[in-house]
Amino acid sequence: MLTVENNQLLTQTGPGTKMGDVLRQYWIPALMAEELPHPDCPPVRVKLLGEELIAFRDTDGNLGLLDEYCPHRKVSLFYGRNENCGLRCAYHGWQFDTEGNCVDVPSEPDSNFKNKVKIKSYPCEERGGVIWTYMGPPELKPELPEQEWMLVSDSQRYISKKVQQCNYFQGLEGGIDSSHVSILHSGSVGGIGVSGKSQSASLLGKDTAPRFEVVDTDYGLLIGARREADEENFYWRITQFLMPFYTMIPPFGGAPRGGHAWVPIDDDNCWVWTWSWTPDRDLTEEEVTQMASGAGIHPLLIPGTFITQANPSNNFQIDRDMQRRGESFAGIFGIGMEDHAVQTSAGPIVDRSTEKLGTSDTAIIKARQCLLKAVKLLENGEDLPALEPSSHHVRSASVLLPKGVPFQEGAKEALQLSEHDYEAV
Ligand code: FES
Ligand SMILES: [Fe+2]
Repeated sequence: MLTVENNQLLTQTGPGTKMGDVLRQYWIPALMAEELPHPDCPPVRVKLLGEELIAFRDTDGNLGLLDEYCPHRKVSLFYGRNENCGLRCAYHGWQFDTEGNCVDVPSEPDSNFKNKVKIKSYPCEERGGVIWTYMGPPELKPELPEQEWMLVSDSQRYISKKVQQCNYFQGLEGGIDSSHVSILHSGSVGGIGVSGKSQSASLLGKDTAPRFEVVDTDYGLLIGARREADEENFYWRITQFLMPFYTMIPPFGGAPRGGHAWVPIDDDNCWVWTWSWTPDRDLTEEEVTQMASGAGIHPLLIPGTFITQANPSNNFQIDRDMQRRGESFAGIFGIGMEDHAVQTSAGPIVDRSTEKLGTSDTAIIKARQCLLKAVKLLENGEDLPALEPSSHHVRSASVLLPKGVPFQEGAKEALQLSEHDYEAV
């Protein structure tokens, strides 16, 4: 449980908020690269951390992310023209380059008026099929993070994003909550959702009361969920929480690996980014088809939007027969949508001052502490965790280990992305 004040601190990320300041120290996944497919393509609206922005790719291919609203009379640049290395407002034609400089004011051709005008802009970079932005103080801009999915080739990776109608931290909590897998996903993990998982799925179902061990690390948390496997062994599902909003999914056999980023749109909505990748081979056609079907962790979207077809307005298309038959514990199609439904069902910002936490919530409690501690670190001018790209060189793991072997020792190699791994890709 959290105090009302700490719950606000954790969940409010708009400009000028303390957590907003923390998140703005990190690179943020802003758009799929394919949203801006070529130079001078149509600009795209994107809202991040409560800020309404407009993204574009200029004539030279440079990326820009500007305040959505023109500084002249505040109309939306969404209606503007992306031409001649700048975004031109549709109203009176003021034009801005990717760095936010006003480069043309047609009504004042002979004055230096344009030199006095600037629009808010954030730097962007493209990597791993994602357009990233940095919204913090320019002098503190770190290097881009380096997670494994970003380092593999395009044919080894599948990425999606969707809008989820709740606060980012509510989703993040679900992402590190291994104990719900045996319940909420009991039908889908054993069935349509995950391929190559039979041993993992049967071990998951066998022990629905995992014991958690959580280790503080320099990037966030290492979370071990331990289940009984047999007399000699525990089945460990080990995952990471990486500051400030990344979670990983422990692998199921040889199936593609997975992870998420939970990025605030505003305080009541978040972008859920999902990546699947294979470290050492291309994704198969069957795997890609399965991901696009919405049965697993990736969403099925309303075409032309990032809104899921099953959503709060239609009760996530709940099918009570499917629920009764146990094909999905919640009667909702797709692993990601089962999560989406329960996480949003608590309301946009859950009241953490009245919740009742148990021992299986240890990782969640610690993740909250990580974020709240970051607020203090920033206030004291100290370094924040996970700003070094190499601190992201980790992997989640699912392993059988003899009882008595500490999981972080027994699984050490499996949990580390080696120099060799990422140089090879
Ligand atoms: S409102 Fe944009 S140029 Fe006038
Ligand atoms: Fe889940």
